[in-house]
Amino acid sequence: MPHDFMPGLAGVPAAKSAVSDVDGERGVLEYRGIRIEDLCAQSSFLETAYLLLLGRLPSKPELTQFVIDITRHRRIKYRIVDLIKCLPEQGHPMDALQASVAALGMFYPGRNVTDQTNNYWSAVRLIAKLPTIVAAYARLRRGDEQIPPRDDLNFCENFLYMLSDTVPATILADTLDTCLVLHAEHTMNASTFTGLVTASTLADPYTVVASSIGTLKGPLHGGANEEVVAMLKEIGSPARVRPYLEEKLQRKQKIMGFGHRVYKVKDPRATILQQICERLFKKCGASPLYEVALEVERVSAELLGTKKIYPNVDFYSGIVYDRMGLDPDFFTPIFAMARVAGWLAHWFEQLRENKLFRPDQIYEGAHNRPYVPIEKR
Ligand code: CMC
Repeated sequence: MPHDFMPGLAGVPAAKSAVSDVDGERGVLEYRGIRIEDLCAQSSFLETAYLLLLGRLPSKPELTQFVIDITRHRRIKYRIVDLIKCLPEQGHPMDALQASVAALGMFYPGRNVTDQTNNYWSAVRLIAKLPTIVAAYARLRRGDEQIPPRDDLNFCENFLYMLSDTVPATILADTLDTCLVLHAEHTMNASTFTGLVTASTLADPYTVVASSIGTLKGPLHGGANEEVVAMLKEIGSPARVRPYLEEKLQRKQKIMGFGHRVYKVKDPRATILQQICERLFKKCGASPLYEVALEVERVSAELLGTKKIYPNVDFYSGIVYDRMGLDPDFFTPIFAMARVAGWLAHWFEQLRENKLFRPDQIYEGAHNRPYVPIEKR
């Protein structure tokens, strides 16, 4: 056996990358060398997406052109809308998103992934169209008509407008924009790794992103944000936090929104999300879930602190989205709308020096067993 077996590939580098970096001991996250705190305070989602994809901050004309490119590609074909109409209304929006993104690839074949111009336009299309698909499923599943994008609205205003048929207040669009910056990228997480494996076969970008969406859905990854809000609602009040957590831990169950493979301190994104919560509550009124969440964090520090398990990005994000009036099962699709920028940045990197992912295994099964005909079994 040439290498040690590392369950979950913990600590095993799967790629060389210049997209982002995490210092899990100090709680530092950088995109292309820029601290996440600075990006959240000063950048926008589309500027951050440009930074991730192209490796540097855009000049003013470059950003203007990128925003125009994205805005021009927001519409989805009526056949994609028809496809979404056919999906069951009680299904999960992540499944609807995955199916629709996979179907997009049939409309924009782009099989030649060695063509960088083609790849740029595929990336633009994916970033532009994900919100339109998410909003379309949200409306169509409750029997409302799909609302096409409006070119005079910015990325987040337009998404919230396509959901609700109302141009949102600036605070709501700005809050969402900061959340998208915060979720846009995070090194070699499970969904990014999935995308790289798919990309390494030279599959088209729609298939790459569809495979990443499938991985993001799981409750140990992006699906945790939805579960956190369900947990906070179930707890109901700060007084009930301690018995709830004690019972959960006694049963060896995990607290959703806590723990991370890389961070051994509080996830810096959780801290930023708390600031976002407080800013939002000042303008729009507080959320009762926040008081419960603060108590969960306090009691968990007592019960889990020695294991270095602290809130991660999914702990406070659901509270923000809940306060914005968004349905819980749309929290993870919103995560995907942001993370698609990171997935695509890693896709670009993978194609530059591609090698097919084909790891090894440690075979633990039998050898040389006889084949027994079915009538003799
Ligand atoms: N609650 C209680 N105990 C925990 C938790 C938690 N959330 N997370 C880890 N532990 C304990 C775990 O029980 C184990 O204890 P012991 O050594 O006594 O058996 C120890 O910590 C190591 O856990 P692990 O699951 O082997 O560690 P990991 O590095 O594989 O876990 C994780 C990372 C994110 C899967 C895990 O912390 C977890 O399941 N968290 C809850 C789900 C969650 O919030 N996911 C979002 C992750 S961050 C953002 C994203 O990817 O979307």
